[in-house]
Amino acid sequence: MTDIQERLATGKGKFTPRYPELGTGPVSYEDSISPEAFEAEREAIFERTWLYVGRSERIARPGSYFTRELPGGLASIVVARAVDGSVQAFHNVCAHRGNKVVWQEHPSEESSGTCRQFQCKYHGWRYGLDGQVVHITNQQEFFDLDPSLLRMPKVHAEEFAGFVFVNLADDPVPLRTHLGDRILELEAYPFDRMTQRYGFSTRINGNWKLAIDSVCEWYHPAYVHARFIDKDIAKAEKKVPPVDSYHYELFPPHMLTSVPGPPPLPPREPGTAGPPVRDQKWVYRLFRAGLFGPDDVPDLGEPPGFLNAGEIAYWGNDQFWLFPNLSVQIWQRGYYITYAYWPESVDSHVYEIDLYFVPPSNAAERLAQELVVDSTVEFAMQDVNTIEATHSALKTRRQRQFHLSDQELLIRAFHTYVRQAVEAHQAVAAPPGGDR
Ligand code: FES
Ligand SMILES: [Fe+2]
Repeated sequence: MTDIQERLATGKGKFTPRYPELGTGPVSYEDSISPEAFEAEREAIFERTWLYVGRSERIARPGSYFTRELPGGLASIVVARAVDGSVQAFHNVCAHRGNKVVWQEHPSEESSGTCRQFQCKYHGWRYGLDGQVVHITNQQEFFDLDPSLLRMPKVHAEEFAGFVFVNLADDPVPLRTHLGDRILELEAYPFDRMTQRYGFSTRINGNWKLAIDSVCEWYHPAYVHARFIDKDIAKAEKKVPPVDSYHYELFPPHMLTSVPGPPPLPPREPGTAGPPVRDQKWVYRLFRAGLFGPDDVPDLGEPPGFLNAGEIAYWGNDQFWLFPNLSVQIWQRGYYITYAYWPESVDSHVYEIDLYFVPPSNAAERLAQELVVDSTVEFAMQDVNTIEATHSALKTRRQRQFHLSDQELLIRAFHTYVRQAVEAHQAVAAPPGGDR
């Protein structure tokens, strides 16, 4: 055993047997390559589950708004802060002749800003911050129009811990019911202090679930990320934490992985780069930051008790998977990352990564954050590369059964929760033997 493996080993047993309902048998990946599965997920999940669309800081004051073009033509929506402080969302479509109301340079691009009213660029109809029509130009020219009945169609929107969610269903369960007790604990984390955002987004030619699979297990890092760890894979294998150092938890349909990270560095003397640390790349030493975050950790007070539930000796991060397509990764070093996966078609999705830090107070802190962003995105791109290879090979259907280890518990669970959501919706939409 190597040093790191000795320090982190816990002797903990397997996690999968704690969830006997999931079984241990081989799994099929047909759900990730079949166009029918994609359509069924879209209807059963994306059209009726709470979906994260952005942070509350983006609509901090009454009149601030942003638009979202939800990928795959799922919806085009406006999210706004109303005068009464409530969050409002509505479909971005005019009640007059259907023009997109809120956009700037190009209608397919997202936009944001502050205003008192939205005005349609076509014939000038105006809308309040709640999407309600407030003025019709040349109203006397129309016939029997009642403006109080006209609006951009409402979308349910709710906030939780500064995360704005929307739900495209007519009558969804409340957001907090969907999240459940364990996720509600996240409210104790000071997300509102981390307002320095760095965002990155790309399109990936692979099914959205494969992307989630690629990062909710910690079996792959020595191989996929060998370039970061050690180009010699035999050495990389010895530098990653032992399998029993990780903590997994399921609270259906949500999930958690809790993982180790490097121990914190000693504080530095002001004006110096700090003492050299064994195995630290020169650039990490220079910037006092790396893949695991800035070495100079902001003081955020006592960490909330819900973190590091598995009591990992050198805790690195907790990654909460909020069904269906968001993860919130809270790092020991005082920052957090959101990852969102938006299916466009069976074989493509849009991947969004946003990193949030306490605003830097000087150039050195800013550069440290930039290096964390840079290495995180590079790490993520190594994962993505694999997804495209996986999807293209799965599509050949030359293998049909696949084998998941204990470290891949979340993959087993996630595909099960997706399948259950589809089956539950189909049972309601078309009860067996009943009329549709
Ligand atoms: S389509 Fe919006 S005012 Fe005519
Ligand atoms: Fe990875």
